[in-house]
Amino acid sequence: MRVLVVGGGGREHALCWALKRDTPDADLFAAPGNPGTAQLGTNVDIPASALDDLVQAVRQHHIDVTIVGPEAPLAAGLADRLRAAGQPVFGPSQAAARIESSKAFAKDVMQAARIPTAVSRTFTALDPALVYIKGHAEPLVVKASGLAGGKGAVVCATRDEAARTVHAMLADGAFGDAGREVVVEDFLEGEELSVLALTDGEQLVVLPAAQDHKRLGEGDTGPNTGGMGAYCPVSSATDALLERVQRQVLEPVLQELAARGAPFQGVLYAGIMLAPDGTPYVLEFNCRFGDPETQALVPVLPGLTAHVRAIARGEWRPREMTLPAGRAAVATVLAAPGYPDKPRLGAEVVVPRDLEPGTLVFHAGTARDADGALRVAGGRVLTVTGLADTVAAAREQSIRGCELIAFEGKTYRRDIGWRQLRRTTERAGAARG
Ligand code: AMP
Ligand code: GLY
Repeated sequence: MRVLVVGGGGREHALCWALKRDTPDADLFAAPGNPGTAQLGTNVDIPASALDDLVQAVRQHHIDVTIVGPEAPLAAGLADRLRAAGQPVFGPSQAAARIESSKAFAKDVMQAARIPTAVSRTFTALDPALVYIKGHAEPLVVKASGLAGGKGAVVCATRDEAARTVHAMLADGAFGDAGREVVVEDFLEGEELSVLALTDGEQLVVLPAAQDHKRLGEGDTGPNTGGMGAYCPVSSATDALLERVQRQVLEPVLQELAARGAPFQGVLYAGIMLAPDGTPYVLEFNCRFGDPETQALVPVLPGLTAHVRAIARGEWRPREMTLPAGRAAVATVLAAPGYPDKPRLGAEVVVPRDLEPGTLVFHAGTARDADGALRVAGGRVLTVTGLADTVAAAREQSIRGCELIAFEGKTYRRDIGWRQLRRTTERAGAARG
């Protein structure tokens, strides 16, 4: 079995690691990969954006299955290209990937399928957007409709700030083409959850929920990032809630996409805001695995990649995947100083060889220099996943790993999973009465 993973982040390293765990004799390729995937297989020096070269590499290396990690190549049509060439691929078509690549489209689909989501309007012209904002309650949210690397959603405390934000997007081209269309929507309160489901377009299996931490600073403060850490299990994502998300969100969106001639195959990620009244509102859909959610999820879901390969090959037999009892994972991101705005690159990274068992280190923004030394080469440098029987213990494990890894300006949060820990403490307090 020869498998190609497209992408080069922590998510892709985690997918490669899981492929090796589930199928030890698989031959792995990553394009472009990173120093972590290089330890598990062969890095092919092709960026995830070079579709022609990727299709050619799949032929040249006799790849049996391609798994696409990031959204950009899916939105550009990589999966269509491979399917047209008769190559099995895990990931949606360009048409189905619009559920992520166009927030305006996603809103339209949700409205048509009556999926709970914030009330919104879509604009391409500035004046009507400003009029709408003038009559809107505060706070409110302005989103660039296109792909913006997780930075296109701006929560605005005031109408003035929202007006400035739409001006920057629609008039000044702040997000390039991604911001030529904007969605203005109500601000929702609650707890965020990442609910991912595997699907072949017809059937689906919901994975255990994870929780991301988008803000840079501890206590969920500071700017939004691509994600500073994730954990599972999340006890607020009860079986009943996940069933509700399946019925009210995932099944309707898949049906609506199929009805529009764009059946979705791959992993559908619903970013959920769990409202205080228990309603799961959709903040966004992604057409791929989450990063860093994947670095927490795959280590605790043995056999996951067998499903991924079967879906790609059109021979999937859905089977529920639950977290084995007493399994928890906390994935902490080590970021470069200055992340997310201006990460400082170049510092040497030292990862000790003898980290405790139950500690996994996934590479993202790293590169080897001419002398083979590991260097900071991106904003999110590494993810350190701790595995243990509780979220609290997994976090301790992850933090100990983070402390032992060294690079100048190393930036990370020590509170990944804080909501879960608070819930556990409250429950223990209530039990003591
Ligand atoms: P998105 O890219 O749409 O997921 O938005 C990025 C982040 O912005 C989310 O993870 C939330 O933290 C926040 N956000 C997005 N939409 C809303 C909303 N309607 N209400 C409150 N927060 C939001
Ligand atoms: N962790 C957020 C994302 O993957 O989009």
